[in-house]
Amino acid sequence: MNADVIILGAGAAGMMCAIQAARRGRSVLLLDHAGKLAEKIRISGGGRCNFTNLYARPENYLSANPHFCRSALARYTPQDFIAWLDQHGIGYHEKKLGQLFCDDGAQVIIDLLRTECVGAGVQWLQPCKVDTVSHDAAGFHIVTSHGIVHARALVVATGGLSIPKIGATPLGYRIAQQFDIAVTRLKPGLVPLSFQPQEWAVYASLAGVSVDALVSLGNVSFRENLLFTHRGLSGPAILQISSLWEHGQPLHIDLLPQQDLLALCAAQHGSRMLLSNFLAQHLPKRLAEVWCANSSDALIAADLPLNQYAHTTLIALAARVHDWQITPSGTLGYAKAEVTCGGVDTRALSSQTMQANTVPGLYFIGEVVDVTGQLGGYNFQWAWASGY
Ligand code: FDA
Repeated sequence: MNADVIILGAGAAGMMCAIQAARRGRSVLLLDHAGKLAEKIRISGGGRCNFTNLYARPENYLSANPHFCRSALARYTPQDFIAWLDQHGIGYHEKKLGQLFCDDGAQVIIDLLRTECVGAGVQWLQPCKVDTVSHDAAGFHIVTSHGIVHARALVVATGGLSIPKIGATPLGYRIAQQFDIAVTRLKPGLVPLSFQPQEWAVYASLAGVSVDALVSLGNVSFRENLLFTHRGLSGPAILQISSLWEHGQPLHIDLLPQQDLLALCAAQHGSRMLLSNFLAQHLPKRLAEVWCANSSDALIAADLPLNQYAHTTLIALAARVHDWQITPSGTLGYAKAEVTCGGVDTRALSSQTMQANTVPGLYFIGEVVDVTGQLGGYNFQWAWASGY
């Protein structure tokens, strides 16, 4: 079978690319090994697909070259994608912080992409296993479970390593390496953080408790919800910081970012309210109780009336609530990560076309490239923009 373009991976980036190439008159063959189409879109955003972010800018992306994503993001914007949804009458809403979700579930996005591919004449091989990829003067030759396919251009859109059980594989990175294209260090991103079981034992009973927090690493901070889990910390603030976190680094967490605990204590001067009850006015009750009960300061652990505490003890308490320092032991890995940080080295690609500098006709798009968005619709915007 011959085509002008073969696209490996029928995910967000692969389908967007297929539609555009087919509309420009290219014959396109889209190939994916998964039994079900675009599972990552289906499970994204809790089933509602946070498909873009109104405020997507290059600053929302991590990459060894932070400027690489500029061109693609400027040439296909969130407004372009929104206009496309509007054309097709697809409803959406902003949840918070510019994050747009589908009103009627993620399937509408998958259906739109599939319908547009079919309408543009894209040919499809799925499920189809890719065995080998080779290249010569005639183009690319791919040995698959459906036979050998040939094309002058090959687009690699095989995504990252997260959630292997729905089809993530390292194929894209392997193809890069086969063509001597560097791949930067890979690690799970937007992923819950774990702690040593012994260290976490005192907090494990807080599983399910969520609190508005400011989580910092170096000079980067995220203020969003933080969620206690049986094994550690999750929630948007933690997922955001996890993409930056490296082993051994402590996190600084302000559990009461909008208030000054010491000033609140001073305002209650002379009160006979128990310390844990006072804290529970500002923090979730279970957190307030565990926070007192497990304090290394015996007086705080004793949970006395507020008027029995010396100012120095309250200073120490406030310091710990506003700057809780804790060092994760690891992450929950690719099984729970939303993305893979790192990828095909952008220095090897044209930021205008996504084509490999040394292999004409070979392109990498989407998450397989070393461009990783923050939480909040930025990763899909990169998939659409780089695919476009
Ligand atoms: P994607 O992973 O979508 O597609 C790659 C395709 O390649 C897959 O269909 C796969 O089967 C195929 N493939 C892989 N290996 C292959 C092989 N060896 N042979 C053939 N085919 C192969 N982002 C966001 O912006 N908003 C959100 O709400 C969410 N939510 C979210 C939730 C969860 C649970 C996860 C895991 C991820 C998200 N994301 C997200 C991230 C987002 O899903 C991700 O960044 C994009 O899907 C990346 O699009 P790609 O097309 O690059 O890869």
